[in-house]
Amino acid sequence: MIPQDFIQQLLGRVDIVDVIDRHVKLKKAGQNFSACCPFHNEKTPSFSVSPTKQFYHCFGCGAHGTAISFLMEYSGLGFVEAVKELAEGVGLNVPDDGRRERTAEQDQAALSLGDVLNKSLAFYRRELKRSQQAIDYLKGRGLSGEIAAKFGLGYAPDDWQGLRAAVEDYSSAALKDAGLVIDSEEGRRYDRFRGRVMFPILDARGNVIGFGGRVTGVGEPKYLNSPETPLFEKGRELYGLYHARRAIRDLKQVIVVEGYMDVVALAQHGVENAVATLGTATTPVHVEKLLRLADNLVFCFDGDKAGRKAAWRALEVVLPVVADGKSVSFLFLPAEDDPDSFVRSKGADAFLAAAANAKPLSAYLVSELAERNDLKSDEGRVRFLSEAAPLIRQIQAPGLSLLLRKRLAELAGMTSEELLQVIPAERTAPSPGSARHASARRSAPVRTSENRIAALMLNWPRLAANFDVTVGPESSGALRAAAELAAFLRDCDFECSQALILESFRGRPDDAFIAEALASSMTDVVLDEPAAAAEFADCLEKLKSDQRRARRNALAMRAAEGQLTEAESREYRALFS
Ligand code: CTP
Ligand code: MN
Repeated sequence: MIPQDFIQQLLGRVDIVDVIDRHVKLKKAGQNFSACCPFHNEKTPSFSVSPTKQFYHCFGCGAHGTAISFLMEYSGLGFVEAVKELAEGVGLNVPDDGRRERTAEQDQAALSLGDVLNKSLAFYRRELKRSQQAIDYLKGRGLSGEIAAKFGLGYAPDDWQGLRAAVEDYSSAALKDAGLVIDSEEGRRYDRFRGRVMFPILDARGNVIGFGGRVTGVGEPKYLNSPETPLFEKGRELYGLYHARRAIRDLKQVIVVEGYMDVVALAQHGVENAVATLGTATTPVHVEKLLRLADNLVFCFDGDKAGRKAAWRALEVVLPVVADGKSVSFLFLPAEDDPDSFVRSKGADAFLAAAANAKPLSAYLVSELAERNDLKSDEGRVRFLSEAAPLIRQIQAPGLSLLLRKRLAELAGMTSEELLQVIPAERTAPSPGSARHASARRSAPVRTSENRIAALMLNWPRLAANFDVTVGPESSGALRAAAELAAFLRDCDFECSQALILESFRGRPDDAFIAEALASSMTDVVLDEPAAAAEFADCLEKLKSDQRRARRNALAMRAAEGQLTEAESREYRALFS
C-alpha cells in the first residue's frame, strides 16, 4: 500500500490544473478553469477544474476526481501507476508499490529489471534489421516497416545465449527475474526466446514489461510469452493499450481481440483502437480498465470454438462490472477468420462495419441461453431460467438488469412478476468498479439536505463541529456518509484539502457521495460564512425533523398493532408534544 501521508504530500505538490492542461487545454473561467469534457461528447464546456479544491468535475456527465483520478480515467493508468506518474513529475519517490510489499532491495531489483528489459528490446530490434528471414516473415504477413517500428517488433536470433550481446552481465539475477533467460538443472543459463519474432509488451506508460515471441516457421509452441514477473501481471495488462489509447479515446470505442498479430494487423489497416489479452482469459481488471477509457467495448474473438468459449467467459466477467450507459458487444467473425485474416482479406471498412453491428451483451446472453435450451418445452424453459438466474444476479446496472428480466420473462412465457419469484431481485453490494462507473455517469449533483450539508462542510470545514444529527444503522447511506465526513474533518482539526478528503474516501462506499458534495461545493463560492452557517443549520434542522417524522410513523404503526412498549409509548407521546 502507498501510505496515506505520501498521497497527502503528493497532492500538496501537484497542481491539478497543470496535470490536466497537459492533456486537455484549459481556459480560465472565474475562479476555476474549464474545457470541453474529455469524458463525453460536447460542444460547450461543462468540465470545470478548481485550483483551490484541486478537483475536477463535469457538470454534463458527472465525471469527477483528483489529479490521481484524472490520470486513471484519462490515460487508463492504475492507481499506483497514476501516483508514480504524478510523483515523477514533481520529483518525489513513491515509497511503496501497493501491489505487494517491497523491500528497498527488491526496488533496486525492479529497477534493473526495467533496465535489462530495455536493453533486450533494443537488441531484438537491432537483430530484426539484420535478419532477412524475419523481415520476410513480417512482410509476408502484410506488415510495413513503419508498423513494425511503431510496435517495436524485433527478432530473437536462434542462439542459446544471444542476450550476451545485449547486457553487460549475462549472469545477472535481473535477466532471470525479467523472464528473459532460463537456468537449466545443470546450472547452464540460456535465452528463453530463440528464433522468434518478438512483440514487446508495454505498460500503460510505454515501458516494456515483457515479450511475446512467435516462431517464424512451424514449431511449438507457436507463441511463447514472458512469465509473470514483478513488473508483468498478465491479468492486468493488455497488449497494444499504450499505442491504442489516443484512438480509443477519440473513437470512444475499444476493440478487444485475442492475438498480438490481430492488434498489429488491425493497426496496419488503420484500425488503431484494438488491444489484446495476453494469452489469458479476460479479467475484471481488464474490463474495468477499458470501460474507464471508452463507453463502447467490442469483444472480437476468433470465429472458432475456442473464440466462442472466450467470448462467453468475457461476458461472465463483464456482467458485474458494466454500468448503464456503457455498451458492450460481441463480434463473431466467420469460423475460419480471426481479426487479422479478416481485415487483410476484407479490409478495414468491412471490419469496422462488422464491429458496429456486433451483438449487444444482452442479446448475446439471451440468444446463447435460448440456443442451449428448448424453449418449446416446460422443462427447457425452466432450465433456461435456471441458467439465466446466476448471470442476472451478477448484474449491477439497474437498467440492463430490468431489460434482461423482461426479455427472459417473455421468452419463458411468464410475466415479470412471475419471473421475480424465480429470480428474486436482490440488492447486492455493487462492486467497486460498477459503483465508480455508475457515479461517473450521473448528471448534475442532487441537492439533497445531506448533499448540502457535506458541500458546506467542504467549503467551511469548521461547520463540521456543529454536526449533531444522530446516525444509526437505520439512517440513509447519504446521512451516514455526511456523518463520516464530519468526523473526518474533526479528526484533522478542520484542516485538510478537498483533494485529500476525496483520496481518503477512495474505494469506500461513500466516495460517490463525497464527490457529489464536492461538485456541489464548487458552485458555493458566492456564499459568505454566516450565510453558510445559516444554511447548514437549516439543513440539519430539516434532517432532524425528517428523523422525528420517520420515528413517529414507525411508532404509530406499532401502536396500531398494539405493540408499543412502555418506553416507546412515552417516546411516542413526547414526539407529538
Ligand atoms: N497464445 C499464446 N500461446 C500459444 C498460442 C497463443 O500465448 N501457444 C496467445 C498469443 O497471445 C496469441 C493469441 O493467444 O497472440 C492468439 O493465438 P492464436 O489465435 O493461436 O494465434 P494468432 O493470433 O492467430 O497468431 P498467428 O496469426 O500469428 O498465427
Ligand atoms: Mn492469426
